[in-house]
Amino acid sequence: MIRFIEDKDTKRAVARSILEALTEWFEVEESREDYIESSKNWPFFAYFDGEKPVGFLCLKKTGDATCELAVMGVLKEYHRHGVGRKLFTEAKAYAVSHGFSYIQVKTVKSGVYEDYDITNAFYRSLGFRELEVLETYWDEANPCQIYIMGLKSALGTISARRSYRGAFKDEKVPREDLITIASAGVDAPSGCNKQTTDLIVVDDAQVLARIKAVIDPPVAQTAPAMIVVLSRRINAYRDRCFAVQDYSAAIENMLLAAVELGYQSCWYEGHITDDDRICDKIADILKVPEDCEVVCILPVGKAEDEVHAPKKKSFGERVKFNGWED
Ligand SMILES: Cc1cc2nc3c(=O)[nH]c(=O)nc-3n(C[C@H](O)[C@H](O)[C@H](O)COP(=O)(O)O)c2cc1C
Repeated sequence: MIRFIEDKDTKRAVARSILEALTEWFEVEESREDYIESSKNWPFFAYFDGEKPVGFLCLKKTGDATCELAVMGVLKEYHRHGVGRKLFTEAKAYAVSHGFSYIQVKTVKSGVYEDYDITNAFYRSLGFRELEVLETYWDEANPCQIYIMGLKSALGTISARRSYRGAFKDEKVPREDLITIASAGVDAPSGCNKQTTDLIVVDDAQVLARIKAVIDPPVAQTAPAMIVVLSRRINAYRDRCFAVQDYSAAIENMLLAAVELGYQSCWYEGHITDDDRICDKIADILKVPEDCEVVCILPVGKAEDEVHAPKKKSFGERVKFNGWED
């Protein structure tokens, strides 16, 4: 399980327990101590097996748009268990939600040491791309490979997206951003291009207040804007209706667009379409046409709290190659 550590002594203790067990990578005592000391000032993610820390990752700001994966270590016996990937996913979501557009990481370039070749392959598998090799950045025996990843690329945004259920900052969302997000929704594919999904963007404080008042139990109460998703049950062909698939594609596009612009959201469908039919009350407030159903609300705003990744199954549990049995 991943924890975001804030206590400086805990950070140092976790970093020490892991880096001292990884001398193949952190051989030079002076630089190891430097990492341990610096880690106390960096955003710090640790992976625990029960109460035992088995991996950690720190981010460091290196420019107004870029942060660096400053140090990362996973105990050898936990390699190939998805620990590093999960730590990186969490850190990436943090970087995106804190407004960074790029993340860089430095390592010894491929072809010099076997252990570092594995590190290079790992970074590439996360989606990093080679930026530049600085032959003498450390010293000639250790040429420095800089990797870079755009956090605002489609792939970066997809893996950074999280369902955010925390408080929102009291900041209005500019209309142009709401238009960008809604445009991403209507740009989504739809079965036979029937375009069964419509949207109502709500950014008027009074209308928002009326909607929030009917959401019981309350969610999204501090959201400065909301996108209400409407669906029409139109058949694509014969008796095949793809309205659910259509609005699902539109919602996912909008969630991604929101994240890319630095906002957070959550797909609230179950909550509003349950037996108490909050969706119908929202439809009445917004004067939604009879042939449309309110199926989902998406709050939009800047996160006040941290964005956390939920526990998910590992990649290997859900994705197989060439048949279910490997
Ligand atoms: C069809 C659908 C309905 C959902 N309804 C709700 C909901 O009513 N309330 C809520 O808090 N989250 C809702 N979610 C969000 C999921 O709980 C969330 O996607 C899931 O826990 C995985 O977390 P992630 O989005 O951070 O990856 C819904 C998601 C989908 C796809």
